[in-house]
Amino acid sequence: MASPADTSKTNKLERYNSYLRRLSSAKLLSASSKLLFRATLLATIFLILLLILHYPLPLSIHSPSSFSSPHRSLLTSFPPSFSPSLSRQIRLSATPRRSSGLSVLVTGAAGFIGTHCSLSLKKRGDGVVGLDNFNSYYDPSLKRARQALLARHSILILEADLNDSLLLSHLFSSYPFSHVLHLAAQAGVRYAAKNPHSYISSNVAALVSLFESAAKSADPQPAIVWASSSSVYGLNKKSPFSESDPTDNPASLYAATKKAGEAIAHTYNHIYGLSLTALRFFTVYGPMGRPDMAYFFFTKSILAGKPITIFRTADGKDVARDFTYIDDVVKGCLGALDTAEKSTGSPGGGPKSGPAQLRTYNLGNTSPVPVTKLVSILEGLLGVKAKKNVVTMPTNGDVPFTHANVSLAAGDFGYHPTTDLAAGLRKFVRWYVHYYGIKLKPSSGQAVAAQRL
Ligand SMILES: NC(=O)c1ccc[n+]([C@@H]2O[C@H](COP(=O)([O-])OP(=O)(O)OC[C@H]3O[C@@H](n4cnc5c(N)ncnc54)[C@H](O)[C@@H]3O)[C@@H](O)[C@H]2O)c1
Ligand SMILES: *[C@@H]1O[C@H](CO)[C@@H](O)[C@H](O)[C@H]1NC(C)=O
Ligand SMILES: *[C@@H]1O[C@H](CO)[C@@H](O)[C@H](O)[C@H]1NC(C)=O
Repeated sequence: MASPADTSKTNKLERYNSYLRRLSSAKLLSASSKLLFRATLLATIFLILLLILHYPLPLSIHSPSSFSSPHRSLLTSFPPSFSPSLSRQIRLSATPRRSSGLSVLVTGAAGFIGTHCSLSLKKRGDGVVGLDNFNSYYDPSLKRARQALLARHSILILEADLNDSLLLSHLFSSYPFSHVLHLAAQAGVRYAAKNPHSYISSNVAALVSLFESAAKSADPQPAIVWASSSSVYGLNKKSPFSESDPTDNPASLYAATKKAGEAIAHTYNHIYGLSLTALRFFTVYGPMGRPDMAYFFFTKSILAGKPITIFRTADGKDVARDFTYIDDVVKGCLGALDTAEKSTGSPGGGPKSGPAQLRTYNLGNTSPVPVTKLVSILEGLLGVKAKKNVVTMPTNGDVPFTHANVSLAAGDFGYHPTTDLAAGLRKFVRWYVHYYGIKLKPSSGQAVAAQRL
């Protein structure tokens, strides 16, 4: 009979041995897990290096290293972050100089309307950061010239595409913009025949990535004012066009994407409480304008002695536009920004605290002018007779006439356009001949005006 002591001794020994076994196996385990850990670490570093070397970085921002210097690629990094110098430039450009000034992210800032709005905001003491992809839909050197002008007023333009949602989120989380003036888009009507997808990516997909980042990455959520278009009225016959008129007869893909934008805006307002204002611009023209628009390329052709094509409607009527001078539109944009209420959503896309503002305004001139009249004004200003080629308007996107009812904008933020087409074109031609270094004949209206100055 084994003594209890004996049993206890063998038991103790057994337990001690098993303890030793467990100890050594644990050591073995920890040693092998250390090895595994090191190997994983090395592999990860190797993979990251491989990624950096072989793939374009998701964040690619180019921006002038100083406000006036020519364009230069900036350092990019992974994970995405702005270099300290770029962060400083963004802060500098975005911070308002007046108390209770706005800090506005202007998309499409190297564009025609974007440049004028950015300047106007900065001049009254608001902070502005621009964003533009400088695409070559029209001569990018004009966009660079506008960028240089903004740089002279200490306004930074980030060279980036709105489809880069990583960049947008990072931008919104790194600076608390109070407002966004979203003007970047694929503009123009007839270009859709050549590049339909550019309208979808810049006017629909880009709008969604902007709204997404504004709703989910910004703290606080900014109020957004963005460019829709008079083209949403499509083939409507009722005149003038009022905001409550139907907009379901788009005549172009461009118009359809702007109309889609208005529907998307409704959704983001409803779900995320984004404060959203759509501005329906009516044929905006003026200095530093868009080379793809009739008043601009007519000027070029008339000066070069080349024929211009003027459209007439199928029933033989003049095509007419409610031409709106850029300074009037800028006042409208600033008025819309100043009266925009705060968004009501919570950062991260959480529930909204209540309904947010959702507005739509016409910004036009309220007096349509036939295109033939536009041409005769230009002839007078340039001192050159145009070679006119009048043809029936093809049904490829253009509408026969536009005419804005602006009483809503007048009532809500005192929008009153004051520049008629002759006065506005005079300013445009003065800029045009200066920018392109053209000498007008002394007989021209513009030359006479210049002498009087
Ligand atoms: N000028 C008009 O008569 C008129 C009329 C109605 C509506 N609009 C709208 O007003 C806004 C401004 O028009 P504009 O005349 O100044 O045009 P614009 O072409 O001069 O400016 C648009 C700018 O946006 C940039 N851009 C385009 N897609 C981009 C993208 N995906 N990412 C980053 N930048 C991008 C372009 O490079 C360009 O500089 C546009 O939304 C346009 O559709 C203009
Ligand atoms: C975004 O747009 C740029 C052109 O500006 C293009 O090179 C790039 O491929 C686009 N990226 C996506 C994800 O669409
Ligand atoms: C202009 O718009 C206002 C506000 O939407 C409307 O009340 C008015 O009837 C419109 N005027 C015309 C002439 O259509």
